[in-house]
Amino acid sequence: MSKTKTAAVVLAAGMGTRMKSALPKVMHPLTGRPMVSHLLSTVEAVGVDEAVVVVGPGMEAVGRAVAPHPTVEQTDRLGTAHAVMQAREVLAGFDGDVLVLYGDTPLITPETLGKMLEARRGPVRPAVVVLGFRPEDPGAYGRLMMDGDSLEAIVEAKDATPEQLAVDLCNSGVMCVDGAKLLDLLDRVGNDNAKGEYYLTDIVALARGEGLACAVVEGAEEELLGVNSRAELAVAEAVAQKRLRKAAMDGGATLIAPETVFMSHDTVIGRDVVIQPNVTFGPGVKVGDGVEIKGFCHFEQCTIAQGATVGPYARLRPGAEVGEGANIGNFVEIKKAVVEPGAKVNHLTYIGDARVGAKANIGAGTITCNYDGFMKYHTDIGTGAFIGSNSALVAPVKIGDGAIVAAGSVVTGDVEPDSLAVARGRQEARPGWAGRFRQRMAALKAGKSNDKKGT
Ligand code: UD1
Ligand code: CA
Repeated sequence: MSKTKTAAVVLAAGMGTRMKSALPKVMHPLTGRPMVSHLLSTVEAVGVDEAVVVVGPGMEAVGRAVAPHPTVEQTDRLGTAHAVMQAREVLAGFDGDVLVLYGDTPLITPETLGKMLEARRGPVRPAVVVLGFRPEDPGAYGRLMMDGDSLEAIVEAKDATPEQLAVDLCNSGVMCVDGAKLLDLLDRVGNDNAKGEYYLTDIVALARGEGLACAVVEGAEEELLGVNSRAELAVAEAVAQKRLRKAAMDGGATLIAPETVFMSHDTVIGRDVVIQPNVTFGPGVKVGDGVEIKGFCHFEQCTIAQGATVGPYARLRPGAEVGEGANIGNFVEIKKAVVEPGAKVNHLTYIGDARVGAKANIGAGTITCNYDGFMKYHTDIGTGAFIGSNSALVAPVKIGDGAIVAAGSVVTGDVEPDSLAVARGRQEARPGWAGRFRQRMAALKAGKSNDKKGT
């Protein structure tokens, strides 16, 4: 049995003037990746046979973000219908289903796209299926003109009469169109309207004029809001964050105050992980089962293995790998370093470009001095080593297994396994010195004040 083919066209040529940005609108990130990338993973999830992205001039960055999916350029931005036409080469001769998505409507789910494809393939065989929704504030959205179950036309807010504006069923922008009819319909779209643009939305009335059926699938506002400004971007981010938190909790993590935990699209969190309030996961973070993350931590591109404890107030930067059962405490920063299983880095420490051996103990205030202003150097701390508080380990340097570094040392040379390194000024003792000092100073001060009285 031959399966109906599906193609997707993602419109992303608009600069998004209301974003007031040098970055193309669809490159603005949501949960740490460009909006347009969200759309492509969604269309990939429904299994489209091909997806093409329509970009504007000078948007090479969009091309790189969506690769290996191809892009086509819309040189003059003459409207959404004109934008779809730029994919003519992909669409010519294609008679499957064509999904049209707007790059600034990034929250749509594969389930909803699936419903649209289902509606297209249903008994009525509508030529156009439009995804509608009823936003709290219909504002500038296009309005869907219905006759019973049949969609008759889409009217843009700027072109609508007051009666049409009162309609609360709006156009999300997402459509599923019969590929055999699409180019034909697009060819007949004109630009005699308030914006002087070729509106994609006009294909509905054109299809109806030919007696072709058009239908609406309704979706939830949360999923369909369009991002046209930074304020709307923040609303979309909030929705996306809510989804990520729910997925983490569904996966067996406890979030004590979910609304204060921020994740990335690719955050991986195991089971029985407890996350206290105010934690931020940047991109590329993996957390193993049973990890406890205390409040106010910040992570990016790092891994935390099973049973480790991190925070409060810990910062794990790119390349930090926290081993099984290790403890990372408060005000600790770790970058490009492996902390092996069971090691403890509990307080006020910077570990960069380093290995901390299994079960090693890093005292409060330890700093790996990894940078001389030009190059970075490695610090290797052996298994079970003990670094006394407030030590500076000047890289490149190697601390052997089981070695002890005395507190306050500035270590510039390698330390043999199981040996002690003391690298600090020696303590001198002067019995009674403090008492004598105080007596002398008190007498001096008294003499001075007597002098003053005499004059
Ligand atoms: C569009 C719809 C409107 C719908 C709303 C949903 C039209 C005519 N109107 O309005 O009915 O309610 O989306 O959010 O389609 N684009 C191009 N090339 C162009 C013009 C636009 O690629 O020449 C892209 C934009 O980058 C954007 C998308 O198409 O990703 C939508 O364009 P936009 O101008 O934001 O349309 P709206 O006015 O929001
Ligand atoms: Ca828009």
